[in-house]
Amino acid sequence: MTKKRFLTTLVLFLAVSFIGVTNTAQAGHHMKPVKKGILLVAFGSSMPEAQVSFDNMDKAVKAAFPGVPVRWAYTSRIIRHKIAKEGKYVDSTAVALARMLDDNFTHVAVQSLHTIPGEEYDDLINIVNAFKAINGGFEKVIVGRPLLGSMEDMNDVVDAVIANIPKERKKKEAVVFMGHGTPHASNTAYAAMMFHLQRKDLNIFVGTVEGSPTIDDIKAMLKEKGIKKTYLIPFMSVAGDHARNDMAGDEEDSWKSILTQAGIECVPVLKGTAEYANMVNLWTAHLKQAFAHFK
Ligand code: CO
Repeated sequence: MTKKRFLTTLVLFLAVSFIGVTNTAQAGHHMKPVKKGILLVAFGSSMPEAQVSFDNMDKAVKAAFPGVPVRWAYTSRIIRHKIAKEGKYVDSTAVALARMLDDNFTHVAVQSLHTIPGEEYDDLINIVNAFKAINGGFEKVIVGRPLLGSMEDMNDVVDAVIANIPKERKKKEAVVFMGHGTPHASNTAYAAMMFHLQRKDLNIFVGTVEGSPTIDDIKAMLKEKGIKKTYLIPFMSVAGDHARNDMAGDEEDSWKSILTQAGIECVPVLKGTAEYANMVNLWTAHLKQAFAHFK
């Protein structure tokens, strides 16, 4: 045997032994019976009116995945602790995953019910990555992207929100969507969405409560166009505190008051995006893509 031949044989031998060892380890791991589950993760809301959105999501997901256990987590600590005082307990993402691990789930699809991939989504990814690092933990844990998680999503969302505009709205009347907004870089999604909406309908606008574009930006745009009447519609999964107070409230700094002051008639629509079947279908489609990795 030449030296080169010997080395090749040695390398092959080591490679085969290594594969053998990993296969045995894998086989050992597979001894745990497969148990697939779904974890739905929302920001959460303390308003009873918001529950309709969560119930809608829950129903749609259970219908799409018959027989698969579905659990919930809220990312907002403030909301979890507030509703706990009222006797309603919802886990954080970390606690929900720990429970699923303890309940012998082997494959978990975690679906973000957020709108954009912002801070809450980043935190979710970090928590899931921490669970991936646990030796003897889940065999597979995968995250489904939020509503606006890709360019393809942008097109789907634009078509879906246009389809949900009240039918009585006339072309010369505006539609102003209220997004949440964030200091996170993903805040750009809102202005991007307005761009894509205006490619289809020049009188549709997107502002945010806590980011950019602001209501002042939107007010200036509406004035420039001579808009006399606008619909105000939340671009948030639930029509909670922001929709009811910051958008449609009677306080002088609400969007309704600011625009009415500017001579624009306002028609608020108090319905969260997750109250519409076509929007819920978009989140469910992301979950289906994530779940498909288990096959
Ligand atoms: Co908020």
